[in-house]
Amino acid sequence: MIYARIAGTGSFLPGDPVTNDDLVARGIDTSDQWIVERTGIRSRHLAPPELVTSDLARIASERALEAAGIGANDIDLIIVATSTPDCIFPSTAALLQSKLGIRNGSAAFDIQAVCSGFVYGLSVAEKFIRSGSHKRALVVGAEVFSRILDWSDRGTCVLFGDGAGAVILEASETPGMISSALHADGSHHPILCVPGSVASGQIIGDPFLRMDGQAVFKFAVRVLGDVALEVLEQGGVEVGAVDWMIPHQANVRIIQATAKRLGVSMDKVITTVDRHGNTSAASIPLALDVAIRDGRIRPGHRFLVEGVGGGFTWGAALLQL
Ligand code: UT7
Repeated sequence: MIYARIAGTGSFLPGDPVTNDDLVARGIDTSDQWIVERTGIRSRHLAPPELVTSDLARIASERALEAAGIGANDIDLIIVATSTPDCIFPSTAALLQSKLGIRNGSAAFDIQAVCSGFVYGLSVAEKFIRSGSHKRALVVGAEVFSRILDWSDRGTCVLFGDGAGAVILEASETPGMISSALHADGSHHPILCVPGSVASGQIIGDPFLRMDGQAVFKFAVRVLGDVALEVLEQGGVEVGAVDWMIPHQANVRIIQATAKRLGVSMDKVITTVDRHGNTSAASIPLALDVAIRDGRIRPGHRFLVEGVGGGFTWGAALLQL
């Protein structure tokens, strides 16, 4: 039996933290108190104009390769989850392959599932590995969401940040990923979207992120609880036997509500939203890398990752390090 296990992780945050007070100083009609009370966010990182998604992804990937003790050309599958690709095409994964100096003909493609993108990518990579077609996947969540924010919309611009997280998933004789589940319901697309497009050399429609925050909040709490229970049942694992939960880092109140519903103490929940903001597809691999590097998640620990985002999409995976 072939399984897929995590061999290394890495992450990257561009520039210095930008605090809530820094946003106020930049003229945004908000306050540290409002942002902290409603979201738990205290700061985020914003990429300078010269950096694109594949640059963030490259640094996170190099750190993951180093942690796994392998070379870039040992990778035979690259999946980048992003909603802020470098360009319409080629894929950010193909550009990342080039920046990493991978010349072995590895498969490379992007996944577009917004904030659930990393969970989608991880699950897809696992299926490639378990089929025997590929041996070592680089799965990255990388975003420059600051580029699609309307900085005059205080209801959204204070919530997001930029960053990248990367995971090496490799074939193994012992289980790493225990179970996973992916879902989507496109009928909810208007509550979180960037509706614009490019045609005939013009931007058609609205190029900025638009969100009905309260509708997203309610939807997220419901499906994150449901999908966590689904993967636990599929894996035959009791919630008490899970060492860590790593939810998508959108809002600490969503994270707390989900933990409460599952009966998981917040001591077992990895949170980085206070320092990273919502980095969409990058949020889970960033939090995972932080918790592995600071020694909280250790070999043998079981952890559950779960994401929800535009589409609507949602998913979860139960893993063992
Ligand atoms: O990856 C998934 C992405 N998104 C999410 O997870 C977001 C989920 N939703 C949320 O986190 C919350 O709905 C928000 C944090 C976005 C908003 O919190 P809320 O409690 O739903 O606030 P609201 O939108 O109902 O706005 C309440 C008030 C309004 O003022 P009035 O009409 O009551 O006078 C807003 O204008 O807060 C005002 N407001 C702000 N005030 C200061 C909205 N944004 C801000 C702001 N600073 N940044």
